[in-house]
Amino acid sequence: MIFKLTEEQLAVRDAAKDFAETELLPGVIERDEKQEFPTAQIKKLGELGFLGMMVAPEYGGGGMDTMSYVLAMEEISKIDASVSVCMSVNNSLVCWGLEHFGNEEQKQKYLKPLASGEKIGAFCLSEPEAGSDATFQQTTAEDHGDHYILNGTKNWITNGNSASIYLVIAQTDKAKKHKGINVLIVEKGMEGFVVGKKENKMGIRASDTHSLMFQNVKVPKANRIGEDGFGFTFAMQTLNGGRIGIASQALGIASGAYERALAYSQERKTFGVPIFEHQDVQFKLADMATRIEASRLLCLKAAWLKDQGKDYSQASAMAKLYSSKTAMDVTIEAVQIHGGYGFVKEFHVERLMRDAKITQIYEGTSEIQKIVIARSLFK
Ligand code: CAA
Repeated sequence: MIFKLTEEQLAVRDAAKDFAETELLPGVIERDEKQEFPTAQIKKLGELGFLGMMVAPEYGGGGMDTMSYVLAMEEISKIDASVSVCMSVNNSLVCWGLEHFGNEEQKQKYLKPLASGEKIGAFCLSEPEAGSDATFQQTTAEDHGDHYILNGTKNWITNGNSASIYLVIAQTDKAKKHKGINVLIVEKGMEGFVVGKKENKMGIRASDTHSLMFQNVKVPKANRIGEDGFGFTFAMQTLNGGRIGIASQALGIASGAYERALAYSQERKTFGVPIFEHQDVQFKLADMATRIEASRLLCLKAAWLKDQGKDYSQASAMAKLYSSKTAMDVTIEAVQIHGGYGFVKEFHVERLMRDAKITQIYEGTSEIQKIVIARSLFK
């Protein structure tokens, strides 16, 4: 086993770090407070190739490996998790799904603008009554020969308003249960497709999370990805990779908070010494650093397995389960180390603590990750 990153991987990490510090850090507090979607920043991120990192260059992507993606996600998430969730969804759930399961026509029409960052995509699985229980799809896609008629509501959709291309999971044949589910490419502007209310969230407040309504939307059959009934498998396989993205986001939130706490502990004095001299602070920092390193290794291992073409569903679930708990625990300790300063916005750690929570919920709650891991143990 070689614990060494390549020159290319290190260059991607450095580029992401530079971008995050120069382009995302200024204004991150205000965007969070105003719930302002980072339109200009996302556009630049796309121009740098971070929205279609793993897509083949012939489709407008960066042709990078998943390990580079993990490294970039960590750096972006250290500064702005609202930006990194948009990046994660576009890369892992939308571009990856289209590249691996879409046909040539769909790739030319939809993948190219998504991979180059010209357009943003959204992944629409969750519903008011189908979050963890994702097979319980109430959105219907009725088969009408050469097209489907789509009806239903999707909830908590990341990039809900900023996206122009939506991958919508819907039930075509209830009798077939999860084998009767399809995934359709829906474009903003299709008649009967309405973007609903924006959620007022605890964290990742600058990302735009919306409900979506589909009222008799006519979707050509040419917009179905894969064979009839492939939709649920599509969602599950896509989420296996998505979970690597969110695990890396959690890792970045944790390491961003840790780096701030470490720096603060050397500046801040109490009882005549920097607080770093107090053993309780040292122990906190030691625990934080150890858990972050373990999270990083889990994320990179899941990415490595994916890059090697091996099964990574268990590894991605483990990475997400562990990294998201690390993000929650580390950010709470970072606030504690900052004391009163940690409770106010200027020091960033309170935002990171609020942002951490969602990583234990979206793309499969921690409880769902345990189900995925437990089932894999019996295989
Ligand atoms: N990888 C590949 N296939 C999988 C899989 C995985 N991780 N998990 C399940 N499957 C397959 C099963 O093999 C089975 O296929 P077959 O019938 O062909 O054998 C099929 O899916 C159904 O699986 P189960 O019988 O296990 O179904 P279940 O209902 O008992 O459990 C579940 C399924 C794993 C709990 C699933 O519903 C799930 O993952 N739920 C969480 C949904 C989720 O992650 N939502 C995230 C929303 S997207 C989002 O959050 C994006 C964002 O905004 C950031």
